[in-house]
Amino acid sequence: MEIKTKPQLDTTFKNEVFKGLSSFPKFLSSKYFYDKKGDRLFQDIMAMPSYYLTGCEYQIISSNTKTIGELFRDRKNGLDLIELGAGDGKKTKVLLKYMAENDFNFIYKPIDISENAVEMLSNNLADEMPTLNVDAEAGEYFEVLDRLKGFNKRKKVIMVLGSNIGNLKHPKAIEFLSKLKDTMLSDDLLFMGFDQKKNPQTILNAYNDDTGITAAFNKNILTRINRELAGNFEEAKFNHWEVYDPETGTAKSFLVATEAMEVSIQKLGLTIRFDPWETIHTEISQKYDDKTVRWLAAQAGLRIETSFTDAKGYYKNYVFRKE
Ligand code: AVI
Repeated sequence: MEIKTKPQLDTTFKNEVFKGLSSFPKFLSSKYFYDKKGDRLFQDIMAMPSYYLTGCEYQIISSNTKTIGELFRDRKNGLDLIELGAGDGKKTKVLLKYMAENDFNFIYKPIDISENAVEMLSNNLADEMPTLNVDAEAGEYFEVLDRLKGFNKRKKVIMVLGSNIGNLKHPKAIEFLSKLKDTMLSDDLLFMGFDQKKNPQTILNAYNDDTGITAAFNKNILTRINRELAGNFEEAKFNHWEVYDPETGTAKSFLVATEAMEVSIQKLGLTIRFDPWETIHTEISQKYDDKTVRWLAAQAGLRIETSFTDAKGYYKNYVFRKE
């Protein structure tokens, strides 16, 4: 006799996929885009001219390296530089180089949700800057926040680049900022990138390339469910769809079922039905203005100390302090 056991929803991934795909309308979290293939696709996205965010932030950091670096400096005790969502560290390396060459006493602690990204970055830094003191860690933002409280023996600078905060809706963004604030002492700084509102077409083009890279990135969440949870999604039967609302500044990504279908996910013991043109909402990429950033910061008990922008004013990096 075959004994069937009920599948255990024993990981956050399983729980969230179960909940999102059993809901109406369906949704999945963009944090699950990032496995080995997703990391590679995101690298390709960052190299696309239409995805202006990376180039703008690189320009901001490279043309203000000294000013930013000196804001971070603590001549007496040195500092801990903690980066959440470090990725490949390309932009941060500009700052790390400046700090390494200008007598800063610091450790660099990159944290990323992708183990693969953390490992690659550590190896790369060991090659390129062997004298740098690096203490890398893999983990989700909200999970690692508590551990940051241990970094309070000397000045701490927390960096969150890439407008990663834009993948959180405002209430979650406030929760995130306020948890960051809770880890900060009065000398500590938060250095964070926020993509700005601009011509809606420019924003839409950043998330809607005709090479299909962003579409593949979005669909990678289905591939991941297939592989890790024994699902049978047919990726080709979904279209990537992007909308941008210039009033709220929210870009939204969807996967749209092009026909009626049934999908089973064995490890969740779940069968889901799609009507033709039914959607799965997978990501938001929020765009900001000064007023909104000031409001978010105030809600979280932070204040803007200064900010830096690129030549086109497409993107801004803000420096926050605890209020
Ligand atoms: C990581 N994050 C800030 C990117 C963004 O712009 O929302 C992820 C991304 N999604 C599609 N293209 C890039």
